[in-house]
Amino acid sequence: MLSTNDASILQGFHTLVTKSPLIMEKIEIIGQMAKTDSSVLILGESGVGKEIFAEQIHLRSLRRNAPFIRVNCAALPEGLLESELFGHVKGAFTSAVSDRQGRFELADEGTIFLDEIGDLPLTLQAKLLRVIQEKTFEKVGSGTTIAVNVRIVTATNKDIEALVDQGTFRNDLYYRLNVLPLHIPPLRQRPEDIPELAHFFLSKFMQENNKQFQGFTTGALEAMLSYSWPGNIRELENCVERACVISKNKWIQQEALFPKSGKGGEPESGDRNLKTALNVFKANFIRGVLEENNWNQTETAKALGIQRTYLSRLIKELNIDYSKSIIEE
Ligand SMILES: Nc1ncnc2c1ncn2[C@@H]1O[C@H](COP(=O)(O)OP(=O)(O)O)[C@@H](O)[C@H]1O
Ligand SMILES: [Mg+2]
Repeated sequence: MLSTNDASILQGFHTLVTKSPLIMEKIEIIGQMAKTDSSVLILGESGVGKEIFAEQIHLRSLRRNAPFIRVNCAALPEGLLESELFGHVKGAFTSAVSDRQGRFELADEGTIFLDEIGDLPLTLQAKLLRVIQEKTFEKVGSGTTIAVNVRIVTATNKDIEALVDQGTFRNDLYYRLNVLPLHIPPLRQRPEDIPELAHFFLSKFMQENNKQFQGFTTGALEAMLSYSWPGNIRELENCVERACVISKNKWIQQEALFPKSGKGGEPESGDRNLKTALNVFKANFIRGVLEENNWNQTETAKALGIQRTYLSRLIKELNIDYSKSIIEE
């Protein structure tokens, strides 16, 4: 397990568990990013741990002893979000019965993490741009300008460049936020993390549920390794939690993790030997990297660190459906 640093003992931060070289690389990059005050845009599918990486950026920076303030931009309607971010004065609107500090003010000297930034309404995008450029803002209903010193980290699972093309996300704001992009790979591209995280969550849920298990059966581990985890770490966490609650055996079995077999964890042939499981895993893994590289085999081979000819052979041997790319070409 990767230990975070002294600051990880601060309350409210998660433990980042990993054994994946891909993630170790990202941690290195974060170490570099942490020395600057530049904005970071974290990209990645839902459930990959974007918030955990945002925490690491803060914890490894010089701002680590100042506040780390989270805001989910998708969780509130526009009016409430504005007052959440910038605060309001008494009487600014009907329910504003007293003055309130906003998240930017609370984050002064520290880091603000704006999650689901792709959902920020256009009017607030303009206000955010101003905070970035001028480091000042006003509370809702107030004429007094407040100055802050805040590091901005944002995250989204949306294709933000597509939003820019559609005109729902400001181009100028995108460039300001994307000074340091950080792409977090999905779980299917970091198989080393599957058993590591599964055990981490198992101990957590054993404690929470006051139950004892010896661990996972080999079948359970194989099933987890051969599944593609579209919901990433959040899905794995939920799966282990459910298994922990329903299991009555000493060992967590495949059936407890994937109750309605057929989907998830069940090798396609129904054959449960290791070779089948590994092949299913390999096929899912390669398909994911192909997708990321727009089905370009040369680029995919490079990303996988194998020869192009070997990749073509694997695609045939593993029966990877390559028809998608042909339709697109
Ligand atoms: N490397 C990791 N180690 C431990 N827990 C993790 C890790 N990555 C993600 N998690 C957990 O998985 C869940 C989803 O992570 P989150 O950061 O909310 O994902 P995202 O914001 O990308 O959708 C959270 O409960 C988080 O604590
Ligand atoms: Mg999130």
